[in-house]
Amino acid sequence: MSGNSIHIDPLEKKWIWAVSAIVVLTWIVQLYYAVADSIHPPSNVEVIDSAKLHMTEEFAEENLGVKQEADGSYTVTMVAARYGFYPPLIEVPVDTTVKLRIASFDVLHGLHVPGSNMATMVVPGYVSEVTTAFTKTGDFPMICNEFCGLGHDYMYSKVRVLAKQ
Ligand code: CUA
Repeated sequence: MSGNSIHIDPLEKKWIWAVSAIVVLTWIVQLYYAVADSIHPPSNVEVIDSAKLHMTEEFAEENLGVKQEADGSYTVTMVAARYGFYPPLIEVPVDTTVKLRIASFDVLHGLHVPGSNMATMVVPGYVSEVTTAFTKTGDFPMICNEFCGLGHDYMYSKVRVLAKQ
């Protein structure tokens, strides 16, 4: 039956191994960062009517911002809308659990705080939720990293991480 065996060109064989090695290496790198830096996709799935955010209690303008919970953690409620994150400044203490809940008022936005693992897409129709703790004090930009229109480059807020009292 040897006449029926599939002939694979030696060069092709080498590339099968090379591609397999690259795939495995990619998995290892992803696994490493997922574990070492706690980088992983947010897992919250919660729907909301983006056109009626102002009618909801949680995302009404007067309820946006930073709130301290009974357990000492903080909840930050924000709205992303062309072209800004609201409120424009949030202040949270260092080394404290911060849960961010954000919804888009219009189109797809992305939220990223460089130097932290706070990053998420903000998809219209869904509430995005990220929990983190900032480990350094100072001012950090919170930038939009999904192209959302002509003002995309100017869409940002500021995170101020304060020393613990
Ligand atoms: Cu919002 Cu780009």
